[in-house]
Amino acid sequence: MNSKIIGTGGYLPAKVLTNKDLETIVDTTDDWIIERTGIQQRHISEPGETTSSMATKASIDAIKSANINNDDIDLIIVATTTPDMVFPSTACILQNNLKIKAPAFDVQAACTGFIYAMSIADNYIRTGTSKNVLIVGAEKYSNLLDWSDRSTCVLFGDGAGAVVLSAKPEEGIISSHIHADGQYNDLLDVKNEQIRMKGNEVFKVAVNTLSKLVDETLEKNNMDKSDIDWLVPHQANLRIIKAAAKKLSLSLDQVVVTVDRHANTSAASIPLALNEAVKDGRIKDDQVILLEAFGSGFTWGSVLLRY
Ligand code: COA
Repeated sequence: MNSKIIGTGGYLPAKVLTNKDLETIVDTTDDWIIERTGIQQRHISEPGETTSSMATKASIDAIKSANINNDDIDLIIVATTTPDMVFPSTACILQNNLKIKAPAFDVQAACTGFIYAMSIADNYIRTGTSKNVLIVGAEKYSNLLDWSDRSTCVLFGDGAGAVVLSAKPEEGIISSHIHADGQYNDLLDVKNEQIRMKGNEVFKVAVNTLSKLVDETLEKNNMDKSDIDWLVPHQANLRIIKAAAKKLSLSLDQVVVTVDRHANTSAASIPLALNEAVKDGRIKDDQVILLEAFGSGFTWGSVLLRY
């Protein structure tokens, strides 16, 4: 059996924090943030909102759009770096919220978490172990930000995205590729519950690594870049996204971009972008989609799929 996406969902907190709002908090400008990152605003959760509560809303949306029942889900995987607590896992809290009786666990691969989770789910489906996997990327980065550090606090936002991946005879996930290299761990980390990043150095490694990842994914499948209909990248920085699009000779209108409105929502960014483009009709049945991400660890990975 193949693994095919049969439903997508998303949730963004109602509260929007614009670049202009940030000008009153740290020494920054709307112009600097837009020029260096493409970000115009981000969503920030209310105090009562948690990673699991956002994951629950995105999951309800995904299960509804998949046109199945909660009982049909037989595995739950949540990709997050901002769990509600160390344990129980956010996946177990989500499982209880949804009243689903299925194994549930979290995956932590920073901004590549959703790609890792898709790759794991694909293997569970291909081996016949699972039929309908709920995969969620959910993050509350506002908790991890040092709101006096202008080099990081302007970059991130909160939200959750979800997909239902199901066993189907027709082609779905074509291949997945996951990687890690721990030697760069001091360039982007969380110490004392706050993000620290050497942005410029991360930027260079991200662009080079994603370029090689595109080659690896296409070569593995004997495909040409012209075979790709849509790029759905992790949304960290519009300049990184443009470099990946250039590598694929794709115009920006074949790239799903949400970083301008969501900022970097880490593991949630790809499922949120995917959900947006599926729901507004841009992504259509049978099209070939490349998902790719890069994040702390470093971790990086891609999923090539036929929608
Ligand atoms: N507002 C105004 N100025 C700022 C600023 C802000 N919010 N943040 C940093 N600056 C200043 C710096 O202090 C520096 O000033 P200096 O030249 O006087 O020292 C200047 O802007 C340039 O900083 P630099 O870090 O070199 O900018 P940059 O062009 O590399 O952009 C990032 C910074 C973070 C936007 C960019 O490096 C980036 O996106 N990195 C990768 C992020 C990423 O992919 N993360 C991993 C995946 S999750």
